[in-house]
Amino acid sequence: MTRRRRVYEGKAKVLFEGPEPGTLVQYFKDDATAFNGEKKATVTGKGVLNNRISEHLMLKLAEIGIQNHFIRRLNMREQLIKEVEIIPVEVIIRNIAAGSICKRLGISEGTPLPRPIIEYCFKSDELNDPLVSEEHITAFGWANPLELDDIMSQSLRVNDFLLGLFSGIGIRLVDFKLEFGRYYEGDEMQIILADEISPDNCRLWDAATNKKLDKDRFRRDLGGVEDAYQEVARRLGIIPEGGPGDLQGTNAIQ
Ligand code: C5P
Repeated sequence: MTRRRRVYEGKAKVLFEGPEPGTLVQYFKDDATAFNGEKKATVTGKGVLNNRISEHLMLKLAEIGIQNHFIRRLNMREQLIKEVEIIPVEVIIRNIAAGSICKRLGISEGTPLPRPIIEYCFKSDELNDPLVSEEHITAFGWANPLELDDIMSQSLRVNDFLLGLFSGIGIRLVDFKLEFGRYYEGDEMQIILADEISPDNCRLWDAATNKKLDKDRFRRDLGGVEDAYQEVARRLGIIPEGGPGDLQGTNAIQ
């Protein structure tokens, strides 16, 4: 790992130069952070689980024609991805009120929203990822209007698909965050889905009990963070043969 060129280090992932031009290696750390890095901890096995969960969801999305950066998983913690020019906007899709929308608009947690609501935040740690409007995005040139339309329609398709997928395994998809990037191939440019989709950036509630199976367990000190992520992986059918215990071992999901 030390000999590879580190292209970017985020709170939960590292990007290294890939083996071929136009590729990167995305490494999933066990580090968990919340409140813009103010709260930090290590959640053993989180990186392994997120690598696997994100792979699974990105492959399913590719099957329905949502182009994304995932190429293939390399090992327990790494996946090969297409290099994209990240659009500096976090796209949040909400089905049920939770988290910041509750505080901002005085809605109680768990209230179903009349329809999926898309919000945008400017990606900036210094500014704490502020909420922005489409006007800001196009006026400041973070994305042009056509790109933004594309991002919005892809986000709604991802939401429709994931709502169904999670509902089939007894999970309510409350909300989630997506990132998109410009992928250049010859003269062509395409907006594709990037980053990751995992319990780190989704709110997932058990359909029967509303038990939180996502990063809110860490944010709110609810305990059982790793167990919750494992439960999501297990329901998605991606826990290895030996059961959750295998995730700790050296032979864990390869
Ligand atoms: O905090 P908030 O309620 O706005 O988060 C909405 C959704 O977006 C949650 O699923 C959260 O995990 C995700 N999110 C994220 N990264 C951020 C902000 C929000 O993954 N920087």
